[in-house]
Amino acid sequence: MSDSDKCRSNSNEVPDSSVPAGDEYRALGQTVPNNLPLFLTSVWQCESTEQADAILAGAESGFVYQRDSHPNANQFAKACRTLHKAKHATVTSSGMAALSLAVLSQLEQGDHVVVCNRLYGLSIVLLGSELQRLGIQHSLVDSCDLQAVEDAMTDNTRLIVVETISNPMLRIADIKALAELAHARDAQLLVDNTFATPMVCQPIELGADLVLESVSKFMNGHGDIMLGMLAGNHDNWERVESVNSTWGLASSPLECWLACRGVATLALRISRACESALTVAEYLNEHVAVERVVYPGLESHDDFQLAQRQFIQGSGHVVTFQMTGGRAAADQVVASPALAFCPSLGDVTTTVSHPLSTSHRGLSLEQQQQLGVNGATIRLSVGIEESDSILERLQIALER
Ligand SMILES: Cc1ncc(COP(=O)(O)O)c(C=O)c1O
Repeated sequence: MSDSDKCRSNSNEVPDSSVPAGDEYRALGQTVPNNLPLFLTSVWQCESTEQADAILAGAESGFVYQRDSHPNANQFAKACRTLHKAKHATVTSSGMAALSLAVLSQLEQGDHVVVCNRLYGLSIVLLGSELQRLGIQHSLVDSCDLQAVEDAMTDNTRLIVVETISNPMLRIADIKALAELAHARDAQLLVDNTFATPMVCQPIELGADLVLESVSKFMNGHGDIMLGMLAGNHDNWERVESVNSTWGLASSPLECWLACRGVATLALRISRACESALTVAEYLNEHVAVERVVYPGLESHDDFQLAQRQFIQGSGHVVTFQMTGGRAAADQVVASPALAFCPSLGDVTTTVSHPLSTSHRGLSLEQQQQLGVNGATIRLSVGIEESDSILERLQIALER
């Protein structure tokens, strides 16, 4: 099998859902495309009722209906399994769909979830009020405080949910310690690895049971899709696949095709962005207009040692800082034409966000204060431009 065949064909782990391999093109007398084509079809033709039955039962490889599985999702899932060194990965329509998939496939009415209070806002809404409607209770705690996590666990706790790197104060979850806490009480640890990507941290290797990524962010890295993925080593992963289809959380072929192109350059992009992020953090640290810089790659960060221990490379592409001049100064920087104000992260180019007026606007004043977010807080998602160009634009914005 040639290298390009290996790229196209799925691994033997999932014999019932392989992507077309070179031999299938050769059998048609065609040359083999070097990239997997985009399969824009909602349904596949079946040769017989027996074949349809066999494929739907998982006894024969092939595709029937896009929501169940399709070649482009399988190809991206394969890349995710490799990146996370996981046995299984399922692709979803967004990061939120990946979180929904995790809870809908793993939890039952009456269960309890320990939720880190630093999670992405909508994740807290989903794990809080939405799960409550389904009879699943939760406790909100700071997962940097391991004792608080342990204290919050009950006999019904089945899941602890944390982010590898939280937003916007970039606190790091001690994944090994949290996994031990979870396993001691027959619970699972689910890690949202979006801010790190599998190039910076591999939670499953550290003991997590499930890892999710909002692929919409740096993992795809081109700011043009919505996609998510959930990976793990569970024995009955068929259940996860079936919940993905039943609840309509599945991905579209185009998004998967673009994500495959995105992750092909992930290693190059992340090393460049992490390097520039450190340069930017050091630059901001010296700037008179900046009161405080938050970056896990700086020794001044609360979790510097943990980041050094836990991360494979770099400390992520996000840098947060507080302006000396408060909200008015932050507003000036964010509105500068030299920077792109986008309330997201992980694009090719550097973007800036203002958490208080975007991602954290729904929190109470007390919650905002607890997290250290105020009007002076600015979050940078560092891109892959030349670092000199990023610094030049920052300088223009800060001089306002
Ligand atoms: C850390 C984190 N997790 C999950 C999500 C949700 O991902 P998506 O927007 O792809 O649904 C986001 C979105 O901003 C996020 O920042």
